[in-house]
Amino acid sequence: MDKYVIKGGTPLVGEVEIGGAKNAALAILTAAIMTDEPVTIDNIPDVSDINVLLEAISVIGATVDRIDRHTAVINGVTIGSVEVEYEYIKKIRASYYLLGALLGKYKRAEVPLPGGCNIGSRPIDQHLKGFRALGAEVEIRSGNIIAEAKYLHGAHIFMDMVSVGATINIMMAAALADGNTIIENAAREPHVVDVANFLNCMGANIKGAGTDVIRIRGVKSLHKCSYTIVPDMIEAGTYMFAAAATRGDVLVKNVIPKHLEAMTAKLQEIGCDVEEFDDAVRVTCRQRLGRTHVKTLPYPGFPTDMQPQMSVVLALARGTSIVTESIFENRFKYADELMRMGANIKIEGNTAIIDGVERLSGARISAPDLRAGAALVIAGLAADGYTVVDDIVYIQRGYEDFPGKLRSIGAEISQVSEEKEIQKFRMREVI
Ligand code: EPZ
Repeated sequence: MDKYVIKGGTPLVGEVEIGGAKNAALAILTAAIMTDEPVTIDNIPDVSDINVLLEAISVIGATVDRIDRHTAVINGVTIGSVEVEYEYIKKIRASYYLLGALLGKYKRAEVPLPGGCNIGSRPIDQHLKGFRALGAEVEIRSGNIIAEAKYLHGAHIFMDMVSVGATINIMMAAALADGNTIIENAAREPHVVDVANFLNCMGANIKGAGTDVIRIRGVKSLHKCSYTIVPDMIEAGTYMFAAAATRGDVLVKNVIPKHLEAMTAKLQEIGCDVEEFDDAVRVTCRQRLGRTHVKTLPYPGFPTDMQPQMSVVLALARGTSIVTESIFENRFKYADELMRMGANIKIEGNTAIIDGVERLSGARISAPDLRAGAALVIAGLAADGYTVVDDIVYIQRGYEDFPGKLRSIGAEISQVSEEKEIQKFRMREVI
């Protein structure tokens, strides 16, 4: 299995370009099959989750032309099945967006029930509640969700909790329902807005995305369009926090600063300089950072997908910090690995109590999930000595060319597959 090997201690300095948002692209590439005309999408991140999803939609019969790493043309006219194979749901939960897309377009969908994952049980009851409200019969049979409707009608749906996936899935199905749908307590994330903008680009009639009330006026059909995915706020935040952890000076380009405000505010609060430009932010850290309290919340609050990266920065800060994870029930799995690097972090329920230490030391660690893996790479970049990160397949799900982008801002990091390559990496300094 491939690994990253890192020589820590070098401040990150330079410029890094951010790609398209994985969590917008997964939904938008799925929604693209809802028309029988060609849809061109660019600024797609070249990460493994996207490649698995594109495979899943081609297996049900859609045509998928990869024009280049970041551009695809999709046409749903050739779809021959509304049954999604288990292997795709097992690989990426977001395949469940095919429920909303296929139910909206064909009034029938059969998708395996996604299991839990590394960060929590992640039920999908809110998705099913929305589909039923739109008039679909939904049942679970032999591990599959079977949703079908003679026709879908508008509904007034109040979400029991803020859910990004359920908001997007219901929005897709409602786009082709008869009548008006209102989603109350809707998720407001930028990628929810991007999906709504994309559906409108295909001829849907959706208003209010980005607020907690989304209004959808159903249309008869959707048409072709060309669309560019929004920049990835979590990829951007990951590089911002890497700059902070290594006391560097990094210009993070191709971002929407407004989407980064919760992260910017926290970095400024603990002592970083963050300068905002039209489509970039510059993070400069000149001294040891201070402590703070952070609680993850739905957007515009501090994002749960940046919680591990925040904890790594606070592990090196002066004083005691508290990080509370309010979205998922099992998102501190990186804490044990961080303690092996010398961090002083105590987990109590959904809270991490972090006593900052002066230094971290490199160690052999393993990525427990996507964002925790990225955070542990940041820890390795900030630590003294060498770090080897195993199970990097998790990180490759959501970060395009992570080592290459980090090297471009001064990091000493390589992707290796053999143990002997690790020795070679360590020896290159000595030679
Ligand atoms: C999306 O997951 C993202 N994934 C996650 O990013 C992100 O952490 C999460 O939103 C929150 O922002 C994608 O977009 C592919 P939710 P999603 O539905 O939609 C509970 C990453 O690292 N819930 O907003 O699954 C759920 O268990 C990934 O890129 C229900 O109880 O998240 C959780 O506690 C990790 N019932 C909370 O709501 C439901 O029907 C928020 O989940 C749905 C959700």
